[in-house]
Amino acid sequence: MVTHPTPLEEALFRAKLPVERSLSYFYDLYAGTTPHREELQPSVYGRHPDIHRLDDWEHRLYAFSRGEWFAHVLSGCESVLDVGTGSGFPSLYLAPVVNRVVAIDVSAGQIALARELAQILDIGNVTFKVGDGQELPFEDESFDGVCFGGASFGYGADPHLELREANRVLIRGGLVAVEDAFPRPDSPSSERIAFLVDCGPPMLHLWVDVGLCSRRYLVRFDPQSTTGQKLLRARNQPPAQQDSVQQEAARLLEKGDLSAVTGVDFTGDLRSLSADEFLEALKDSGFGEIKQWHLPYTKAFGHALEQEGLLGRFRCGDLKLLLRSLIRGAPIVSDPDCLRPSGFYTHVTCRKA
Ligand SMILES: C[S@@+](CC[C@H](N)C(=O)[O-])C[C@H]1O[C@@H](n2cnc3c(N)ncnc32)[C@H](O)[C@@H]1O
Repeated sequence: MVTHPTPLEEALFRAKLPVERSLSYFYDLYAGTTPHREELQPSVYGRHPDIHRLDDWEHRLYAFSRGEWFAHVLSGCESVLDVGTGSGFPSLYLAPVVNRVVAIDVSAGQIALARELAQILDIGNVTFKVGDGQELPFEDESFDGVCFGGASFGYGADPHLELREANRVLIRGGLVAVEDAFPRPDSPSSERIAFLVDCGPPMLHLWVDVGLCSRRYLVRFDPQSTTGQKLLRARNQPPAQQDSVQQEAARLLEKGDLSAVTGVDFTGDLRSLSADEFLEALKDSGFGEIKQWHLPYTKAFGHALEQEGLLGRFRCGDLKLLLRSLIRGAPIVSDPDCLRPSGFYTHVTCRKA
């Protein structure tokens, strides 16, 4: 049963903080507070030789796994469009295996960051452009591949529009690769997820998940304040305890201890499709050969590698090769009746009929 407002929303409301409703403003802010490019570069794009830091391997294993999947399914494409590229994922990962990539995002800040990363990585075949996935600034049949990485699909008022646009710009038989985070059927409604953005001025990103609707708050806080100190202490818990950290952060805000918080920068409603609605939308938008891929990456897989002492033995490139082979042999469900959300992201390919 969904109750509105949740205690957390009430607390945020009581604080009467300024509100900004633009999605691009939200992601611009993200881009602006990500100055740790040397961190971003290895962790997101997997170019770092050292994967041994415990606080990093999980992130890297995950990033490699996602990147290798996109590279595998789109490899050999002549021209790929990456919608909602953010700071360049998966474009920068795809660049070595396709001829040309065009990457768009509604956030000018993210596009600037992605361009900078492409320069750092010396990647020349990706063009970045500010643009809206719901109204693609491209001619019909301009691409043979389209991808949506990291749940960049479905932010708009009408998610069908993005699929119809993707279909329009694809040649017949062109491939779409989507990585999306569908609401989990087993996730309790009104569950609050909160996490800290670990860069730039301290911020808290709260993702209030209410059924099929998410509301996001980006909160700046004063690190010297009591709340700030508590939040930072919570942040320093080991990764294994992150769930309880999230709950603790949410609890602190719920208690109304918001006097030390200096501003809510964004709040907006994001309406996701359920996995089944997404499947229907694909068919309605003219796609066939729908496949769900079950990637080898799970937390359990990572922990098993770690427990066997294997993570420490792999160099970065070896780990990518291992994941690449596992992905090539990954279980695929062709023409599924329903999509089964697996892990945080679910991976689907289809072709323009
Ligand atoms: C969760 S981020 C994912 C970024 C990146 N693909 C990744 O995997 O790291 C979602 C991105 O989609 C962008 N976005 C949202 N709606 C969009 C739209 N209608 N057109 C283009 N980009 C959009 C946002 O600005 C944001 O950068």
